[in-house]
Amino acid sequence: MFAFLHDSKILWGVFQVLNYCVSRASTPLLLTVTIALLAARLLSALREIRKLPPGPWGPPVVGYLPFLGIRHKKFLELAHNYGALFSARLGNQLTVVLSDYKLIREAFRREEFTGRPNTPLMHTLDGLGIINSDGRLWKNQRRFLHEKLRDFGMTYMGNGKRIMETRIKSEVYDLIQNIRYTNGLAIDPNPVLALSVSNVICGITMSLRFSHGDARFERLNYLIEEGMRLFGEVHYGEYVPLYNYLPGKAQAKEKVARNREEMFAFYQTLIDEHRQTLDVNNARDLIDTYLIEMAKAETEGRSQDLFEGRDHELQLKQILGDLFSAGMETIKSSLLWMIVFMLRNPAVKRRVQEEIDAVVGRNRLPNMEDMARLPYTETTILETLRMSSIVPLATTHSPTKDVELNGFKIPAGAQVVPLINWVHMDPNLWEEPKSFNPSRFIDENGKIKRPEYFMPFGVGRRMCLGDILARMEMFMFFSCLMHQYDVELNEGDPMPSLEGIVGATIAPKAFRVRFVPRSSPLPVAPVTPPDHSQLRYVGSH
Ligand code: HEM
Repeated sequence: MFAFLHDSKILWGVFQVLNYCVSRASTPLLLTVTIALLAARLLSALREIRKLPPGPWGPPVVGYLPFLGIRHKKFLELAHNYGALFSARLGNQLTVVLSDYKLIREAFRREEFTGRPNTPLMHTLDGLGIINSDGRLWKNQRRFLHEKLRDFGMTYMGNGKRIMETRIKSEVYDLIQNIRYTNGLAIDPNPVLALSVSNVICGITMSLRFSHGDARFERLNYLIEEGMRLFGEVHYGEYVPLYNYLPGKAQAKEKVARNREEMFAFYQTLIDEHRQTLDVNNARDLIDTYLIEMAKAETEGRSQDLFEGRDHELQLKQILGDLFSAGMETIKSSLLWMIVFMLRNPAVKRRVQEEIDAVVGRNRLPNMEDMARLPYTETTILETLRMSSIVPLATTHSPTKDVELNGFKIPAGAQVVPLINWVHMDPNLWEEPKSFNPSRFIDENGKIKRPEYFMPFGVGRRMCLGDILARMEMFMFFSCLMHQYDVELNEGDPMPSLEGIVGATIAPKAFRVRFVPRSSPLPVAPVTPPDHSQLRYVGSH
């Protein structure tokens, strides 16, 4: 912005003139020079602003922040007014919103867009983990996690796929059994789904499995929920640092720190337990994998370089937290939306069940092999992801240097967000986008098509790391539930709304549903994961 001052010759000239004015005590001259300098500064600032994407203005200091309301909804309105690429100053942060899918793809495949913004929240998280890290730490961790999670079954191929399927199956069967105890009475499906979905991710990462009423599970969930709420409370401080000094906000920040401490203490206990029983030739889960990597680095004398020299255990704890929060809430919300859409679209529900009955039959439950033969079931899941856009703004990317996009300048450090909910509901891309129609994902040959503007997992270099696991889990839970139960509304209960609530994801508002057993429900015996899955039950089991 003040590029003209960077030129040392100009700076020297300005200094000489000021020196002359002061030494001669020439007030009118001093005034003229000051005004000229200010005008030059203003002009330069205006020139810079004109290079930015267009967007709404707001008062100094706070910018457009007070008019924002629910971010992803306000951004829809602004995209209507300002187009596919707009910017808004929110406090001291410049936010750039992309709503054209080609632009989103173009930007997010570029290395420069893999940065994360420098905000107080990022300082709290210390740039650790996978979601909030960037630079070399992020790159190395992403590669490491990809490789190791594949070993634990996050793959569509080979034995790994079967390991993961067995792990998921054991949770699906438990869920089906637990639902059976409800005897077709209306329940809030949220807690039962939360338990089953948590057990999948906690099994992979920590060999941890919770049972109903487990106090630790309730505490863990409480802490995650509280963490979200507290971050919400200090959210404005992300944009206006002075906000953090308002009465009550300091306490909220302290609570954030205490919340994190307790979560980390929980993970620390598990890490210590793992360390005591570690077998370097046999990784039972992700904690073991990290411990083995740390031990290896020590033997090879490269401990200081591991994880870019950051505290190894702190990094591991943040990774555990990241994977739990990314892998639990997303799947649970998606499954809840599937139930909502089935309640609202009984014809789709019947067609899904008919397809499953015809392909799988009534004598066994669906499995991963069936996925390719159940296109309508699979596209019902895709259509749910499209219409619910549970992560409407994905994650915030931040260019690591000034970049040009579509003829506009995006300065280094800006907050760049894709407007996925716009892309998923754009009438120029989707026919009748507001109607729930799984067939839109099926081509004329009966094969599933995924248009490039379908992006529930984001796109590019920071795209979701868990998409394979997510797709496996959603298919197994949804198809087995539909095979075993009819989902029905309790008489007198209102139809669940499509209006979601904004939290870590956009989730349906609380609702109740009856799971009515379909004809010939199968006796579901618990599935014991095979030996090679190395799943261990620790803690309260
Ligand atoms: C329906 C389920 C899911 C949806 C819709 C979803 C969606 C997303 C989206 C939109 C992003 C951000 C992409 C971007 O900003 O460009 C993301 C990132 C991420 N997701 Fe998922 N996700 C799901 C499930 C999972 C699961 C099960 C895991 C666990 C392994 C996971 C792990 C992650 C991680 C670690 C990142 C951050 C990647 C990075 O920063 O490099 N997600 N996800």
